[in-house]
Amino acid sequence: MTDIQSLILDHVRKFHREREQGRGFVPGETPLLPSGAVLDEDDRVALVEAALNLRIAAGSSAEQFEREFARTIGRRKAHLTNSGSSANLLALTALTQAELGERRLRPGDEVVTVAAGFPTTVHPIVQNGLVPVFVDIELGTYNTTPDRVEAAIGPRTRAIMIAHALGNPFPVAEIAALAAERGLFFVEDNCDAVGSTYQGRATGTFGDFSTVSFYPAHHLTFGEGGCVLTDSVRMAKVVESLRDWGRDCWCAPGCSNTCQRRFGQQFGTLPYGYDHKYTFSRIGYNLKTTDLQAALGLSQLAKLPEFGAARRRNWQRLRDGLEGVPWLLLPRATEGSDPSWFGFLLTVLPDAPFDRTAVLTFLESRRIGTRMLFSGNLTRQPAYQGVTYRVAGELTNSDIVTERTFWVGVYPGLTTEMIDYISGSIREFVESRR
Ligand SMILES: Cc1ncc(COP(=O)(O)O)c(C=O)c1O
Repeated sequence: MTDIQSLILDHVRKFHREREQGRGFVPGETPLLPSGAVLDEDDRVALVEAALNLRIAAGSSAEQFEREFARTIGRRKAHLTNSGSSANLLALTALTQAELGERRLRPGDEVVTVAAGFPTTVHPIVQNGLVPVFVDIELGTYNTTPDRVEAAIGPRTRAIMIAHALGNPFPVAEIAALAAERGLFFVEDNCDAVGSTYQGRATGTFGDFSTVSFYPAHHLTFGEGGCVLTDSVRMAKVVESLRDWGRDCWCAPGCSNTCQRRFGQQFGTLPYGYDHKYTFSRIGYNLKTTDLQAALGLSQLAKLPEFGAARRRNWQRLRDGLEGVPWLLLPRATEGSDPSWFGFLLTVLPDAPFDRTAVLTFLESRRIGTRMLFSGNLTRQPAYQGVTYRVAGELTNSDIVTERTFWVGVYPGLTTEMIDYISGSIREFVESRR
C-alpha cells in the first residue's frame, strides 16, 4: 500500500468514527428498522480501498469472495450475481439447459413451490415458461412440510424450489430426499437463511443449487448482490455462462485464451476459428456484480458468525419478552433446526379484539418498523392474475398470513434495549385492548 493510500484510509477510519459518534437510542424517536445493513469501519475502508484502486468491474475481490463463501457454506462452487432474484433466475434457468439432456426442464413442466413467501422465488418458474404448483405453509414455522410437497407432485412435476422462511429452515433434508427419490431437481432459496442449520447441516447445502441475497436486509450485504452455489462443476459453468451474456468462453475479465483455442474451434455455422470470446452458446443475461460490492462482501463475511449470534440472541429475547401475550401466535423454529433468524413473525389470532392494521399502526407510530411476510399468498397478487399455475390442496394458511401476519426486526443493528422496547410496545398495545 502506498503512503498516500494508507493516509486516505486512515482518514476514512476517522471519518467513520466521527459519523457514528453519539448515535444513541431514543425510544419512539429512533427508527427501529425491521432489517438493515450493519456496516463498520472495516466495511467503509474496504469499499474505499476498492474504489481507490478503481476495481469497478468484477475482479480479485469477487474471485476471493466466491472461493471463501463456497467454503463457508460448504459447497464446491459459488458464483456472484447482482441480486438474490438474479441468483434464483440463474439457478432455475440452468435447469432448462441442454447439458441436462432429457432431464432438462421444458416449457409446461411443473415446479412445486410455496404460495406465501418472496415473489422472486417463484417468478423464475414463470419466466422460464414453467408452471408453479403452489403448496400451503404451516403457521408458527411459516414453512411448508414434506407431506404437502409430496401430495403436490404430479405427472409433469420436474422440480422443487422453496425458500427457508425468514431464516427458519423448512424440513430440507426430508424434501431433498423426496426430490432424489422422485427424480426431481431441487433448488433451495437460502436468501434469508445464511448461517442456519437443519439437523446440524448448513442450509444451502441440500439442493442441486442454492441461492443467496446480499441486499442490505440480509445476513451479509453487498448493497446489492447475490450468489448461486452448487457442488456440480459442470452446472456452475452453465450458471456462469447464463450470468455472463450466454457466452461459451469462460475467460475471467481482462483475460484471453484461457481455453488455448480462442481462434481454433468450430461452432455451428460460424466461420472456423471465430473468436471464442464472442461465441454464445445460450440465451443468457448480464447479471454480474462488481469488485466494489465484493470488497464490501469480503469484509462482511468475516462477521457472519457474530451477526448470526446477534440474530439468534435478539430473536430469543423477543420470544421471551412476548411469552404468554394473548391473541398473538408466537413463532417457533422448525424441529431439528437452528435458525439464523431474518425476522420475528407474529400472527394476530382470529379471536383478537384488534386487527393487524391496528397493531401495525401503533408500532409504526413508535417508529418500530414492520413488514408483511412478503407477498403473502402470491396467487392473490395482481402479477399472478392470468398466470398459469396449479394449487395443490388448500392455501388456507397462506391466506391467514396474507390477512393477519407481520414481522418485526431481529437484525444485529438492534440492541437489547431496542428489542425490549419492541416487545414492551407490543405488550402495551395488547394490554390496551383487553
Ligand atoms: C426468500 C427470498 N428470495 C429471494 C429474494 C430476492 O433477493 P434480492 O432482493 O437480492 O433480489 C429475497 C429478498 O429479500 C428473499 O427474501
